[in-house]
Amino acid sequence: MRRQAVILQPDQLHYVLENSPDPFSPASSEKKAALNHFEPRNVLISQGRERTVRRALQEQVLDTHSPVHRLASSFLPVIDQETAQLLEDIERTGRAVGNTLAWEDFISAWYRIVRRTVFGDHARDDEELTHMITELRRDGNWSFLKPPHRRLRARFLQRVRDSMDTAGPGSLAHTLRNLPEHKDAAPVEQIPQWLFAFDPAGMAAFRTLALLSTHPEQQARAVAEIREDTTGGQQLPYLRACVLESLRLWSTTPMILRQSTREVHWPDGTMPGNCGVLIYTPYFHRDEDNLPHAHAFRPERWLADAEDTDWPMVPFSEGPVICPGRQLVLMMTSAMLASLLENRTFTLASSQHLSPKALLPGTLDHFSLRFTIHDQDQGAPHT
Ligand code: HEM
Repeated sequence: MRRQAVILQPDQLHYVLENSPDPFSPASSEKKAALNHFEPRNVLISQGRERTVRRALQEQVLDTHSPVHRLASSFLPVIDQETAQLLEDIERTGRAVGNTLAWEDFISAWYRIVRRTVFGDHARDDEELTHMITELRRDGNWSFLKPPHRRLRARFLQRVRDSMDTAGPGSLAHTLRNLPEHKDAAPVEQIPQWLFAFDPAGMAAFRTLALLSTHPEQQARAVAEIREDTTGGQQLPYLRACVLESLRLWSTTPMILRQSTREVHWPDGTMPGNCGVLIYTPYFHRDEDNLPHAHAFRPERWLADAEDTDWPMVPFSEGPVICPGRQLVLMMTSAMLASLLENRTFTLASSQHLSPKALLPGTLDHFSLRFTIHDQDQGAPHT
């Protein structure tokens, strides 16, 4: 039976993440079992030489080391268009019952943005692709307990391959297609992770909207940033910090998993090879003894001039295996929030209690969040 370690100290957390993928491999048995359902050769569950090649490819396409993705001038207008369309649709259909933004509308618009970003404009309405990944991911959640649905997986990967072959310029898949070929790269199987991982990015953006709509001080600072922006939405540091803060409060990847590739010597003992290692991020992110205002919305803590703390805040992980999509996610979610908040304010209309005066809850159900939309200058419901 496999042994399991749980990380409880910051220095242990940093040690494990900095020493990944060897001796702490992200390709843990549970991840392999889950992802085998839809992306068996993805970087996440690759090892050795194959991992090196696939990681390099991911970093190149996702522009991991640049805060502004090289395709920003293609992506940001898409975000503006789809957000404008979302608001227009709500305003057109909502006259009788008031203008309400619900998760279903938000996520449909977000998926349209994601498909256009990943494959180009022609994939905008390819909802079937999104449904396929949802179904395969549902199977993936059964991990070892359910055999992979091989026919659906093959059909899905063929569909991804076709979409990559026809991907329009200015999309991630087009960039991927034009990289020099490498026999170990498995490019088609790097794409499902993008489609899948944009999901939590949508959740984070929607939860950030809930935080901003209930925290007037932070909302005012965000709106000021949007009004003063001269970068066309490329650089919105405060809004990015708001998204990071929402991810600290409600991690979308609360469990970072590793498996030791060999024996590892720690000051107080030896960890065997093949030992599972769990980092449960909320344990650190909500530690009120070590993190000031752990249960409050304080985006400032993510800004360079903020009070310094080396306490782990790792919603995207850290070290050599850090999420390669981190900057792209922050650019896209902050741009969508900017488009929403540019001329409107949002009032939380559902029952969640979020307030600067109360401790924020440990979880936030994004499915049931609902907002009333107002014209910014009038402060009255938008009709
Ligand atoms: C809110 C949104 C997201 C969050 C919080 C997030 C967080 C994470 C975390 C915690 C990991 C695991 C890192 C580790 O094991 O140390 C990861 C891996 C990864 N993420 Fe993200 N992610 C997000 C969105 C995205 C998006 C949109 C993409 C691509 C477009 C992406 C691409 C990847 C890839 C390829 C990996 C595997 C990296 C590797 O194994 O080397 N992520 N992400």
